[in-house]
Amino acid sequence: MPAESQRRDGPSPSEFRSYWDRKHRSSSYRHAPLQEFLLDLLQSTFADCAGFVLDHGCGQGRVAEALAQRGKAVALNDISAIALAKARNRLVRRGLAARLAHGFCGQIKDWRGPTPWFGFVSHRVLHTIPLPHRLAAVTALSSSLAMGGKGIVTARSIRCSRYEHMLSDPAFELVESSETTFARPAPFRYLHFFKEGELESTLAASGLSVLQTLDYSELTGNTERGLDTQVNRYWLIVCQKGNG
Ligand SMILES: C[S@@+](CC[C@H](N)C(=O)[O-])C[C@H]1O[C@@H](n2cnc3c(N)ncnc32)[C@H](O)[C@@H]1O
Repeated sequence: MPAESQRRDGPSPSEFRSYWDRKHRSSSYRHAPLQEFLLDLLQSTFADCAGFVLDHGCGQGRVAEALAQRGKAVALNDISAIALAKARNRLVRRGLAARLAHGFCGQIKDWRGPTPWFGFVSHRVLHTIPLPHRLAAVTALSSSLAMGGKGIVTARSIRCSRYEHMLSDPAFELVESSETTFARPAPFRYLHFFKEGELESTLAASGLSVLQTLDYSELTGNTERGLDTQVNRYWLIVCQKGNG
């Protein structure tokens, strides 16, 4: 694909998939255990949930594991087959069951998982989805969600001075020129941070109403401040299909 159209349309699903496969193959790419407040929120949000909860962009399965340990039926979704295999093994090792749903959420034709789902969690995923696919991803999450079903979404906005030097390096490319400006290493670093209000409007456009907005960076003690972060909003939203 020519560089110009790549910038305009974003990477193709297969380029995106190999990027994430590479990351998940690396033994150093691991996520820390989930924080207590998030575990409590999973418990309270899905307490009455009668069917599958989808872990969107499950990565190596820490959210799915927490849900399954709380008695929820879970479906794992990730664009990376490597991530899915790791997540599945993690659950199997603990005697927990999960349905697998490999695919690029937003391209529902790839979907192999159970529908509808009765809840979903999309933790630290949406800001990694290229802008042209982001609304489609949220719409896909919403369209197969049962009416009244709830979702938990976290997504971030950041400007980080440790990346400023990349802007003058031809190996790095400027993605956007707004406050969410970020540099990405060539060939790709897929980070497309949210602007104020953008997450809410994306959810609303997909038929999801906001029940609660929390500041995830405050809840986690702003641990990323140490990385020269100039603006670091990390939103955590609980939403519901329908009018709440
Ligand atoms: C930062 S990781 C977060 C993983 C996991 N949610 C967690 O918090 O442990 C982002 C994950 O989203 C997956 N992903 C990115 N875009 C996706 C998409 N469009 N559909 C499904 N999965 C996607 C990536 O493969 C990666 O595993």
